[in-house]
Amino acid sequence: GPLRVLVFGAAMRAESSNGRLAALVARLIGDTGATVDLATMHDFDMPLYDGDLEAEAGLPVGALALRDRLERCDAFVISSPEYNASVPGVLKNAIDWVSRVQPQPFKTKHALLVSASPSLVGGNRGLWALRVPLEHLGTRVYPDMFSLASAHQGFSADGQLTDPGLQQRLTETVSAFLSLVEADVRYVCLERR
Ligand code: FNR
Repeated sequence: GPLRVLVFGAAMRAESSNGRLAALVARLIGDTGATVDLATMHDFDMPLYDGDLEAEAGLPVGALALRDRLERCDAFVISSPEYNASVPGVLKNAIDWVSRVQPQPFKTKHALLVSASPSLVGGNRGLWALRVPLEHLGTRVYPDMFSLASAHQGFSADGQLTDPGLQQRLTETVSAFLSLVEADVRYVCLERR
């Protein structure tokens, strides 16, 4: 069947530029015929990690939702803001909760990381920080990343990027990422036969 890709923005606010970028990436992925599951952090609402909570009740509902949606995809895309040159606490907290389950849904999955920020570097340092916990968990983080600078003026009314060169680069990055995932998923199928 078609590739299944989970896409989510890692910010909570309704007007999030990372939510916009996630929606655009979801559209580009959908255009290739893949199946997209577009999520927001509100779908994964959960308390702060607390070992006592975990011992009493296991994973909270929001963490189980993220686990389930990761299990159902072949690959995922995160559009994350950069907070203080690193990963937003909300996203790191979600990764920490989900890291507590076996089998580990982050393991061996391909991931594309993108970011948007009003700054001139587009939140790229946050993505380098995000690689650390994901790679620790065994995620195959795609080497190329995409960071949208000046994100407050980066989108046109139809949700595309205002800069055609950047729109093209994003489209090419998504397409190259999907080719890799497709080749790998097909290889694994052949191997298992
Ligand atoms: C920020 N922001 C920010 N931007 C950046 O480029 N580098 C940074 O280190 C930080 N640090 C930071 C810390 C905190 C606590 C906040 C709230 C914000 C700005 C951030 O990129 C901006 O708020 C974006 O708009 C967030 O993305 P969304 O909400 O538009 O998706």
